[in-house]
Amino acid sequence: MRIPEKVIESIKGSSSIVALTGAGMSVESGIAPFRGKGGLWEKFDPEKYAHVGAFKRDPEKSWKLFRLQYAEISKAKPNPGHHALMELQKHGLEAVITQNIDGLHHNEEVVELHGNIFRSYCTGCGTKHDTGDFMEKSILCRCGAPVRPDVVLFGEPLSQASTSRSFQLCSRCDLMLVIGTSAVVHPAASLPFIAKQNGAKIIEINLEETPLTDGVADFSVFGEAGNLLPDILQAL
Ligand code: APR
Repeated sequence: MRIPEKVIESIKGSSSIVALTGAGMSVESGIAPFRGKGGLWEKFDPEKYAHVGAFKRDPEKSWKLFRLQYAEISKAKPNPGHHALMELQKHGLEAVITQNIDGLHHNEEVVELHGNIFRSYCTGCGTKHDTGDFMEKSILCRCGAPVRPDVVLFGEPLSQASTSRSFQLCSRCDLMLVIGTSAVVHPAASLPFIAKQNGAKIIEINLEETPLTDGVADFSVFGEAGNLLPDILQAL
């Protein structure tokens, strides 16, 4: 696809770029998004599986979701969009802030706002575990308490370190690329507003319109992130 000239000019004219990514970033890696057709929340009610209260009531039930996510994510590899974001570091991309828990970004600085599914820990004694060790065996730690992935569940706050670093990056960047997120889950969804308020341009890359499209985004480019990002890179 031909990328609008203004998008390319904006990237060329920026010295501090931050990318905010969501589930759409990993679709070309074979990982299903959450919302929309074929999304994970069609099969799993997030209130019943992915809420911290649901986990406390019935951790085994939540692990049905975690195991499915782990199985899909552990097979996935970075796609051409992830590779393009690595190359964009040569063109001013300072950091990637991601809502994804799949560990597919390998940029120099990656802020994983919602954690990482590969890590787990015991809710009782805090011992660290590999999530992959619990695909078949009991989710109980040696101390008897349930183990859980180190991901942010609904109803839980984000880590202080990742939130404050994200706010810092967003308040001083001059361009933000918002890639493959429905931009409805806060605080991640507020980051483009913070960047905009501080004078940054916002370029959105998504299959469809989002709450950012009219008003917050300076430009919206519609298509697959795995195709558009390499196209952008090539045009720079
Ligand atoms: N390329 C670009 N965008 C895409 C692609 C693609 N190939 N496929 C889907 N999209 C877009 C969709 O149009 C949608 O706007 O990606 C977005 C995915 O939205 P969600 O599934 O809501 O994912 P995300 O925004 O990351 O969700 C935020 O919600 O459930 C929680 O914790 C979960 O981190 C997640 C958070």
